[in-house]
Amino acid sequence: MGGEAAEAAAGRAARIAPTAHLLVTGGAGFIGSAYVREVLGRRDGARITVLDKLTYAGNRANLATVESDPELAPRLTFVQGDIADAPTVEPLVAAVDAVVNFAAESHVDRSILDPEAFLRTGVIGVHVLLEAVRVASADRAVAGRPPVRFLQVSTDEVYGAVLEGRSREGDPVGPRSPYSAAKAAGELLVGSYVVTHGLDAVVTRGSNTYGPYHHPEKLIPLFITNAIDDLPLPLYGDGLQQRDWLYVSDHAGAIDHVLRHGASGETYNLPGSAEMTNREVVAALLAELSKPWSLVRSVPDRPGHDRRYALDGSKLAALGWRNATSFAEGLAETVRWFRAHEPWWRAAKSGDWDAYYERQYGARLAASTEA
Ligand code: NAD
Ligand code: TYD
Repeated sequence: MGGEAAEAAAGRAARIAPTAHLLVTGGAGFIGSAYVREVLGRRDGARITVLDKLTYAGNRANLATVESDPELAPRLTFVQGDIADAPTVEPLVAAVDAVVNFAAESHVDRSILDPEAFLRTGVIGVHVLLEAVRVASADRAVAGRPPVRFLQVSTDEVYGAVLEGRSREGDPVGPRSPYSAAKAAGELLVGSYVVTHGLDAVVTRGSNTYGPYHHPEKLIPLFITNAIDDLPLPLYGDGLQQRDWLYVSDHAGAIDHVLRHGASGETYNLPGSAEMTNREVVAALLAELSKPWSLVRSVPDRPGHDRRYALDGSKLAALGWRNATSFAEGLAETVRWFRAHEPWWRAAKSGDWDAYYERQYGARLAASTEA
């Protein structure tokens, strides 16, 4: 017995059919594109429409393996547009069984430099999606059809820094960066639509994610690509901050599991497989690349830098999900991928990259010390 039958026998009949048509917003980004590859690759008959604004972080090339596959390509439709634009969003939502919202501005450092886009996408954009889901679900109810399910992809960062223990879903949120504040606001809107309008919605709070197609502004891909070029690696402060690293295909798989099995109105933590300090992560990636620690420079810290995130994963485990990838396996695969995809990351480090890099790191590197 496999698939649906096994799930049903285990008392976990899926709330979303394997052949459901999904709207995946932000599907040309890092985790969203992994989700598209996972779902179309694993589930015969699944269909996906991606809505993506193609900001600096979005890249149609992230979907190239699907779009060039004659079996998968007919099941994917790509629409370039903004989740905050209601006329774009409404007809797309009306045509699907579920919406998985990855769309967001995702980099904490950029939220410190320029927060406005974080609020527009994270608050207004989420509200536009929720309104479209509310209207489409009401229309479907008239026809006796189930509502459009909504999954909001959120982050462990909404809890704020957790110095001891692990955050549980019922803990209060305490975001400390404009990025995490916008993500918390988006979640609160989702909760309000569940209570007020009876929306069928779930929220996931994923841990720090890494893997292929990760934009090189983030710690692991920035340090891998800088190290390949023998450039300095700017480690913030003492480098003893802790994160719990989650491999991207595990994050995508866990989101799909919650979409299909999570109870409406519930929030699920998605922990990683490796609680490590940034120093430990950097040492591991340098070893994988055979590059020296002398590349690492201690630079002035990020303002408001959260010292530690840590999630309790028992609710997700009770729903039947286990991560499959260890940090050692995931990091080796990530390094291999970046080595093999130099044109991809050099393109991501072009255009506005130099101006961003100078603004974020110029003065910091000038003031850097031995790490
Ligand atoms: P990313 O920056 O790689 O991708 C974001 C995507 O959203 C891009 O393709 C971008 O073009 C698109 N987008 C941005 N604004 C949009 C808008 N207004 N309308 C339509 N599309 C828009 O981000 P990611 O790392 O893949 O993160 C995806 C989601 O997962 C985000 O919601 C993020 O908060 C969440 N998350 C990320 C991590 C992580 O470690 N990367 C961890 C937990 C949660
Ligand atoms: P990042 O990848 O930006 O993810 P987040 O801020 O969402 O956790 O950063 C991961 C950790 O690495 C975080 O503690 C900040 C640190 N960091 C550096 O030390 N140097 C850098 O250049 C970057 C981008 C991050």
